[in-house]
Amino acid sequence: MSETSTKLDFRVLDGILEQYEYKKSYLIAMLQKVQEVYRYLPEEAMTYIGEKVDGLSPATVYGVATFYAQFSLEPKGKYEIKVCDGTACHVRGSMPVLNAIRNKLNLKEGQTTCENGLFSLEIVSCLGACGLAPVCVINDKVYPQMTSDAISVILDTLLKEEGVA
Ligand code: FES
Repeated sequence: MSETSTKLDFRVLDGILEQYEYKKSYLIAMLQKVQEVYRYLPEEAMTYIGEKVDGLSPATVYGVATFYAQFSLEPKGKYEIKVCDGTACHVRGSMPVLNAIRNKLNLKEGQTTCENGLFSLEIVSCLGACGLAPVCVINDKVYPQMTSDAISVILDTLLKEEGVA
């Protein structure tokens, strides 16, 4: 699936709003649903919700969406990679792992999602598994004691599965 902000299906949004009875008290739940569908919060969706729900405005919806770390305003990849760069992971080599990911996926510094939309990359501060440092997570799977070679093999496997490599 590669829905983009230019392909918003407003019937899907209406379905979500109906499910929550167009009530502003359910705004967070609505945004969570929208993010489930699109893997991020498209700007048009936030504007639509702000216009359709009584008592909200697009600016309010945008303000709420940016306040919570759980919401992404940028498209996420099918595979969401998190690289921990907390202290334990940093001293045990998270940077070479991060660089290996960027190289493999052709991600420039500051670019968070690769061109084909398959992978997105996020640097996080601690995943609570310091004993396994350096740690990466791809979707919900934890990869302990990562090395640049190991992450390259993992990414090669995923690329192959997706028919990209
Ligand atoms: S610092 Fe990486 S898991 Fe804690």
